[in-house]
Amino acid sequence: MANPHALSCLPTARKIHEDLFYVGASDRRITLFENVFPVAHGVSYNAYLLLDEKTVLFDAVDRAVSGTFFENLGAALGGRALDYLVIHHMEPDHCATIAEVIARYPQVTLLYSKGAEAMLRQFFGFDPAGHGRAVKEGEELCTGRHTLRFVMAPLVHWPEVMMTYDATDKTLFSADAFGTFGALDGNLYADQLPFEAEWLPEARRYYCNIVGKYGKQVQNALAKAAKLEIETLCPLHGPVWRANIGWFADKYDLWSRYVPEDAQGVLVVYGSIYGGTENAAAYLAARLSEGGIANVRMYDASRTDASVLVAEAFRCSHIVLASVTYNLDLFTPVKNLLTDLAAHNLQNRKFALIENGTWGPVSGKRMGELMAAMPGMEQVGETVTLRSAPNAATGEALNALADALLASLRESR
Ligand SMILES: Cc1cc2nc3c(=O)[nH]c(=O)nc-3n(C[C@H](O)[C@H](O)[C@H](O)COP(=O)(O)O)c2cc1C
Ligand SMILES: [Fe+2]
Ligand SMILES: [Fe+2]
Repeated sequence: MANPHALSCLPTARKIHEDLFYVGASDRRITLFENVFPVAHGVSYNAYLLLDEKTVLFDAVDRAVSGTFFENLGAALGGRALDYLVIHHMEPDHCATIAEVIARYPQVTLLYSKGAEAMLRQFFGFDPAGHGRAVKEGEELCTGRHTLRFVMAPLVHWPEVMMTYDATDKTLFSADAFGTFGALDGNLYADQLPFEAEWLPEARRYYCNIVGKYGKQVQNALAKAAKLEIETLCPLHGPVWRANIGWFADKYDLWSRYVPEDAQGVLVVYGSIYGGTENAAAYLAARLSEGGIANVRMYDASRTDASVLVAEAFRCSHIVLASVTYNLDLFTPVKNLLTDLAAHNLQNRKFALIENGTWGPVSGKRMGELMAAMPGMEQVGETVTLRSAPNAATGEALNALADALLASLRESR
């Protein structure tokens, strides 16, 4: 159906299988995903259309890309009716346009999880029973050639999340799982992109910040997925996977068990006003490098988005925190970071502390308390204390801390 109200545009729908089409679209103008995560390379909102004897749309899209989405949907349907809309996730980055789907295709039957029922009512004000029904774990829908099976994945972002497995084509529609930030630039498949080199940091940042808190639930979903033969993985954001799915699933396994991806990874984060604390952190980073540790990563907490630091903390086995004391407390960017790490359930890391204070340093104690509140965190070496600016004694203390960290890093190899 042509869109009677939208500006004219060309469809960008793509064929994935003989009868499966990508009908989503990318937003390159968005600044902050969920109004909090910077997305310099944009984001894609994926939706898929199955053209079997029955036609099935898997999810809708964010309002920002509704014009292209409806153009794609109309073009891919090619005049056919839309029989089903499967709603995997009720977050408005996917569901904001479902009321318009219903308006354009009034005979469509919505299929959703039990948990989505109240959300449909809350977001849209209609009784979902008038438009469809809730499906259960393991329930199957035969659409002709295809048999679809619904797999619940509660809290793999929100409580109502479910996935769909197409047993005919061995395709898993995985909702927010296996997604990434980043617009799609024409290439639809992960194997067409320099994924490990360029996309993995963004996929990690997406996972850790969006779903990182729910490691246990992700493990449950991975256990269900492990029983399925998956040849194509269709997430709600980022590229489609038709190769190396096991490699990506292994990353999810590590992240969701809070196991560092890099057992020799050192993240140094500092909060410094006049540079003394920064200098101490740089001195320590240099000692670690001299001790044979490659790729020590140092970040200024004031200048680095927290989502980057959260992702780096998930990647690295060792975290060095250095902060000035600020109005009898931690420097605010460092305090915010530690709150964020705790909120994302980070656990099982080794950490070291550097504090600074001119008249009463308390930042070491505060950082220690906040880290100790997270499960499985273990301090390495003694907290190094600066009083205003580093001196020879600071250098000695930092050398000792570097030795303790190097010993711990050798063990974690
Ligand atoms: C606004 C402000 C508040 C501070 N509050 C404290 C404090 O409560 N206790 C303390 O010992 N030092 C305090 N300091 C001093 C710093 O902790 C630190 O010693 C100084 O900024 C030097 O470290 P830097 O070169 O890394 O910034 C404060 C500094 C500033 C600018
Ligand atoms: Fe989501
Ligand atoms: Fe999403």
